[in-house]
Amino acid sequence: MKVTPVSEILGAEVTGIDLSGTLGSETKAALREAFLTYQVLVIRDQTLSPAQQVAFSKIWGDLEIPANIQHTTEESQNVMILSNEIRPDGTAVGVVDGGDFWHSDSSHVAVPSMITILQSVRNPDRGGDTEFCNMYAVYAALPQDLKQKIEGQYGIHHVSKTVNKRVTISPDRPGAKDFYEAQAAARAQVIQPLVLVHPETGRKALYCSPRFTVGIKGMSEEQADPILDELFAYVTDRKRPYHYRHKYRANDLVLWDNRCLCHRAVGGYGLPDIRRMHRTVVGGDRAYADQAAS
Ligand code: SIN
Repeated sequence: MKVTPVSEILGAEVTGIDLSGTLGSETKAALREAFLTYQVLVIRDQTLSPAQQVAFSKIWGDLEIPANIQHTTEESQNVMILSNEIRPDGTAVGVVDGGDFWHSDSSHVAVPSMITILQSVRNPDRGGDTEFCNMYAVYAALPQDLKQKIEGQYGIHHVSKTVNKRVTISPDRPGAKDFYEAQAAARAQVIQPLVLVHPETGRKALYCSPRFTVGIKGMSEEQADPILDELFAYVTDRKRPYHYRHKYRANDLVLWDNRCLCHRAVGGYGLPDIRRMHRTVVGGDRAYADQAAS
């Protein structure tokens, strides 16, 4: 197995490994070490079936069952389909607008996702990249006064796009407005520390995102907005100094660490060009905040 960095800020390519079989303990340990060092692993030349992807994903922890069960594979309900493909009856094959704004997966629930794994099943001719932002590097780059303002503070996170003024609803997703309105009514907000100490590396990372963080606990909108806008500018900065943009090759399997990264699906493709990803998620092993205190 060979591990080669893909950028100076994060990410490594892994070659010379076949994930379809059983991995030995030394290989697993080497993968984990590379993962904690580089935050994103791009494992080349994998053609895993949903069952094989599940087996590989389980070496990292227990898997989440996706909320939208109608968009999972027939072979496994742990594998969610992300795709822009629409069936002749107008229904979507997969989640059409997954990840279109910067976020860390499931920070809107008390125990957020730990690791996300995407197998590229079909790549569009153009577009379809995933972009990552190193939140350790962002935290390290914050000015001292901003660090002081956010130390010990909690972001308020919510899943629905209709309660977040910083995002928009994709017109490509059938029934999206009703979906997000129902979520706004049914789902509660949660709090997460704005500065997260990574449970495995002990390093501090900024933990908030334009997609899910809608306020700061104990602050009015007028107080919180300038702080959040300043923080989000680091994540969305057009110059992208803390970022790596992954352009998928056929048969890439990519996994990333949600505890120290934000990411987004860049888009830039459209029918009849089809993008299809198979996504598994390793669930978190802890809450980062005491929800009873919120
Ligand atoms: C995600 O946000 O989990 C998916 C990202 C992508 O489709 O590129």
